[in-house]
Amino acid sequence: MRDNELEIVQSTNKKPKPQTDQLAFGKTFTDHMFVMDYAADKGWHHPRIVPYEPITLDPASMIFHYGQTVFEGLKAYRSKDNRILLFRPDKNLQRLNLSSDRLSMPTIDETLVMNGLKRLIHLEQDWVPSSEGTSLYIRPFIIGTEASLAVAPSQSYKLMIILSPVGSYYSKGIRPVSISVESQFTRAVKGGTGTAKTAGNYSSGYKAHAKASHEGNDEVLWLDGVEKKYIEEVGSMNIFFKINGEVVTPALNGSILDGITRRSIIELLEEWDIPVVERRISIDELYQAYDECRLEEAFGTGTAAVISPIGELNGSERKVIINDGQTGELSKKLYDTLTGIQTGRLEDSHGWTVEVK
Ligand code: COI
Repeated sequence: MRDNELEIVQSTNKKPKPQTDQLAFGKTFTDHMFVMDYAADKGWHHPRIVPYEPITLDPASMIFHYGQTVFEGLKAYRSKDNRILLFRPDKNLQRLNLSSDRLSMPTIDETLVMNGLKRLIHLEQDWVPSSEGTSLYIRPFIIGTEASLAVAPSQSYKLMIILSPVGSYYSKGIRPVSISVESQFTRAVKGGTGTAKTAGNYSSGYKAHAKASHEGNDEVLWLDGVEKKYIEEVGSMNIFFKINGEVVTPALNGSILDGITRRSIIELLEEWDIPVVERRISIDELYQAYDECRLEEAFGTGTAAVISPIGELNGSERKVIINDGQTGELSKKLYDTLTGIQTGRLEDSHGWTVEVK
């Protein structure tokens, strides 16, 4: 077998599929996974689909010590006529490479990995759920595997793609979430790793999340790390506000994640001739818009979260109830349109969906 030829080893011990009305986010995994290795002298090699199982790593593997890892999140959807659709998967693999570059990790051949990903989804197609609001979440990730405590890039890596049938990311479903405005901790700063999808950006937020959750919130709203003044993003989503008929989202400034759902929403709004701007927006400007009754809607966007209406923003001295805590008209229309395209219910005039055959 050539080093880049895909090997497929089928599982002989298939798991029962979960009930689709009881899917939590990322708790159940399918029967197979995609794996590929990297060695400095060989490059990426030995792509394979193998039974899903625990892996063995040396305790000195560099991932455990300095966190050299990147990941992605995308979804496969089942259409009413039983087709399996991926949503803009090319964008995820491009971003994986951008993240890898930031973490001094080797980039992948996007075509080769896309091919492996499609073969994996094809093999696991019975795991793609069909009920409303469900999908098969796809998690590609890369870890540094060299056994070394040197503070330097690993010389070997493992790329894996695992799959998990999922329901709603938030336990509330599509009901509006409460967000706490974080004034103490910081997610990222310009020049840091904020635009990369890497583990530390998430685990460093757990402390703020625990505080927010203790106070009854679902998520944290991050402000910029320097002045604690400008709005950046939410724990697992980008954020949008509708103010006086115009939709505003923080501009990509070097510390915000370039979300694929974010981009898609901007494109839809432009197409609908709804004014949308990417710019710096401060939390004070938002409070002022609220006080002047100009803040009409707020919602988060992300692969996992889809479109999540925001009903409440809780600052240390402010409570902002948006649209009476109800899902806004625009949030609902965006949710219906995006999920319609993703699941093949609506025509995909953008060429965003890719069918797995
Ligand atoms: C996603 O939306 O796919 C994410 O990566 C967010 C989160 C689950 C980490």
